[in-house]
Amino acid sequence: MNVVILAAGQGKRMHSDLPKVLHPLAGKPLLGHVLDTARAIGATKICVVYGHGGEKVRGALDAPDLTWALQEPQLGTGHAVLQAMPQFAAVSPAPTLQTLVLYGDVPLIRAATLQRLIDAAGSGSLALLTAHLENPQGYGRIVRVDGAVTRIVEEKDADDAERAIREINTGILVAPTAALARWLPMLGNRNVQGEYYLTDIVALAVAEGMPVVTAHPDGPWETEGVNSKLQLAALERVHQRTIAERLMEAGVTLADPARIDVRGELKCGRDVAIDVNCVFEGRVELADNVLIGANCVLKNCRIGSGTRIAPFCHIEDAVVGADNIIGPYARLRPGTELGTGVHIGNFVEVKNSTIADSSKANHLAYIGDATIGRRVNVGAGTITCNYDGANKHRTVIEDDVFIGSDTQLVAPVTVGRGATIGAGTTLSKDAPPDQLTVSRAKQASIPGWKRPVKKKG
Ligand code: UD1
Ligand code: CA
Repeated sequence: MNVVILAAGQGKRMHSDLPKVLHPLAGKPLLGHVLDTARAIGATKICVVYGHGGEKVRGALDAPDLTWALQEPQLGTGHAVLQAMPQFAAVSPAPTLQTLVLYGDVPLIRAATLQRLIDAAGSGSLALLTAHLENPQGYGRIVRVDGAVTRIVEEKDADDAERAIREINTGILVAPTAALARWLPMLGNRNVQGEYYLTDIVALAVAEGMPVVTAHPDGPWETEGVNSKLQLAALERVHQRTIAERLMEAGVTLADPARIDVRGELKCGRDVAIDVNCVFEGRVELADNVLIGANCVLKNCRIGSGTRIAPFCHIEDAVVGADNIIGPYARLRPGTELGTGVHIGNFVEVKNSTIADSSKANHLAYIGDATIGRRVNVGAGTITCNYDGANKHRTVIEDDVFIGSDTQLVAPVTVGRGATIGAGTTLSKDAPPDQLTVSRAKQASIPGWKRPVKKKG
């Protein structure tokens, strides 16, 4: 199966410097969705027809399995597909039999629908994906005589009777590659728009006696294109709803399926519950019995079984163990690895650090470039001073250490097993195990001291 993806359109109505097909839907460029679907149906050769801003598109999505054809100027959909044909002619030893035409700005087309279309086409038919719409305005209409498709007429070229037809051309089709190569150079542009219409191949197929068959999408959104930010947002909601339904069908509890955004792949175990307004990016895995509070953002992370993430947490490139309590308002940055039963409380930031089982940092702390053992208690306001302005250094805190509040650990520094660090300490040398280490100015009280009073007059 050859696949041509038309992506040369400029997308003026997006009012953006970003080429239309690079606008993200669920965190992935529109064209990326179409490419993934093409791959899912086992495309052997994929050619993207690009135009305006095309180098950016190519730079963003190029892959070894893609070829690119520049269409400049853009003279219509038929002209666009023609640009891809040399790529397919070069396939040897045997040219792939069929070519599927897709659109870079129609992101939600499903593999199952395309498979139906491909099956309908067999090896010697032209297959059109058509739909019956209440309001067919703007679309090409499928003209049938005695039930058989005879041609497609564009809205702008149609007469009143043709405009009354409700069966529309979605634009997606499958044609025998050899026939397509024969037809495309035959297309003319004598129509209202002065374009080379891909749709005119239908009449050419009929003239040759080739059967023209149709298949239909499951939902209207499958073939809807994105031309504006409004349409982009509408398809985003449709897509997110589909993801939410898939999660719920697999047993995930969603407080509100309309208030979750998955921009990547979210894997959930049993009895996972997700409160409102959470965003999942990249690859996220939630093990059994994980609870995610409201307003959390999780990106590329794994959360162990039984862990509770309280509201307003931000977690990125981190591994969180089982039975942890995280947040509210915790930030786990890249390189964070937490063992079992760890507690990370409000306004605690952890970066590039490992924290072993049963350790706690419950309030207002920065833990960066640290290795923390088991059963360690990190007091409120503790800071690892990991950066000297030029280099980063590590802090090592061994098992069973108690760090008093408002401690600064000036790295590189090690706190030995079982040590206690007194509150307010600025630790610039290693602390020996099992001892109290404290650096603090001696407390003094001044007897008879009087508060200043305001002068009169
Ligand atoms: C096309 C179909 C119409 C169908 C409709 C569905 C034709 C002649 N008409 O009309 O029957 O109902 O889609 O949306 O095919 N493109 C290029 N190069 C070009 C022209 C277009 O790459 O020279 C791409 C565009 O980026 C766009 C797609 O092809 O993604 C469709 O082009 P557009 O001009 O919007 O076609 P329609 O007029 O909508
Ligand atoms: Ca259009």
